[in-house]
Amino acid sequence: MRQSGAIGIDLGTDSVKAVAVETVLGESAARVIGVGASLGKGIRKGTIAEPEEAGQAIKEAVGALEKSTGIKSRGAHVGIGGAGLAFQKSKGLVAVSRADSEVTKEDASRAVQASEANLSRLQNKEILHKFPIVYRVDNEVLARDPVGLVGVRLEAEVLFITAFSQSLKNAIKAFDEADINIEEVIASPLAAAKAVLDEREKEVGVMLMDIGSTTTSIILFEEGLPYSLEVLPFGSANITHDIATGFRTTLEEAEKLKINYGSLRQESAPPKKTARGGEDLVYGAYSKKKLSEIIEARLDDIFELAEKHLKKYERAGLLASGVALVGGGANLPGIEILAKERLKLHARVAEPENLGGFKEKVKNPAWSVAVGAALMALDHNSNTSPFFRGRTGSLFHWLRAFLP
Ligand SMILES: Nc1ncnc2c1ncn2[C@@H]1O[C@H](COP(=O)(O)OP(=O)(O)OP(=O)(O)O)[C@@H](O)[C@H]1O
Ligand SMILES: [Mg+2]
Repeated sequence: MRQSGAIGIDLGTDSVKAVAVETVLGESAARVIGVGASLGKGIRKGTIAEPEEAGQAIKEAVGALEKSTGIKSRGAHVGIGGAGLAFQKSKGLVAVSRADSEVTKEDASRAVQASEANLSRLQNKEILHKFPIVYRVDNEVLARDPVGLVGVRLEAEVLFITAFSQSLKNAIKAFDEADINIEEVIASPLAAAKAVLDEREKEVGVMLMDIGSTTTSIILFEEGLPYSLEVLPFGSANITHDIATGFRTTLEEAEKLKINYGSLRQESAPPKKTARGGEDLVYGAYSKKKLSEIIEARLDDIFELAEKHLKKYERAGLLASGVALVGGGANLPGIEILAKERLKLHARVAEPENLGGFKEKVKNPAWSVAVGAALMALDHNSNTSPFFRGRTGSLFHWLRAFLP
């Protein structure tokens, strides 16, 4: 018997991906009911630029999902990414309210509110998620959960994940265009993490890298909580562009070369000599060795920026669970070997796991965000996002106020 179901949508630049999942009584793993995808339109570097076009792409993806599953979708949980995603940490201090100085739940939430009030640089941004990292009672006792402790002053340190207000407004417009309710907006790196990381990895320290087409998103976890987040404006489409320029060929041909022959650090067979004594050529004209070099050069740049991120947040070489690579760009054979070398961390390519039903349909790192968004919806214990609302909720009303 079905207990609950949800639809997750990843608004990607290259493609919009929609997945339906359900939980069934007596089964621990969520079941994949089906998927639908469409060519990304109206989305630039992960951010909706033209809501009408993006709305069409959403309609097509959801239409394909409905056709393949026979279900009718009312609303969706949406992963949004792009350069507008960022994080900020802030502190908030309150006086403990009870006469006997015991910290209550209300004190804890007031301390979180105070930290929100202390946030700087919030112009044109909206808070998507808040994670209380630690509480301090009277400036000395540190606790994850301060309720029941005794003291006079309570301070909360909170991590906020924010998005550009404009991106959210455009997302609302695009989903309106597609006639789908947004039930929840999730920062896409958090959604991807939900699909591919386990609690132990997040506890001991892990970096997730989502190599999309035009962006690469990085999120670090430590002690079970997000630690930092950054969206780099480069992805696998940049590799395609480099191949097109390097071989003076079209983008279509370059994409085919990348998908069919692109690889890194692979133990390859010795180059076959052609009749003219040339090296191993593909499509009769392109050197496989040069192809690998072009791909490696661009990925090197991306991993260098990821390493900079690790250094900036003093986590270089410190993440016991290493790096998990997701996104369509993680499909290049041998990418984990390059990541391991460059980041000096254990590296693995990750894809949505622990699923039942038509799980083969999402067995690709590119499906992590869509699957994670749907799984977060099923996860009743998750209350990290204030926006679980639908057309009547606070996010919706708040955003509506800005629309003409
Ligand atoms: N088998 C493959 N080998 C190499 N690259 C691949 C493969 N499959 C997909 N890609 C690349 O992955 C990219 C698409 O990945 P993904 O679907 O994660 O992007 P997106 O989410 O739409 O984009 P973004 O996250 O930048 O908004 C494309 O650039 C595509 O060329
Ligand atoms: Mg993406």
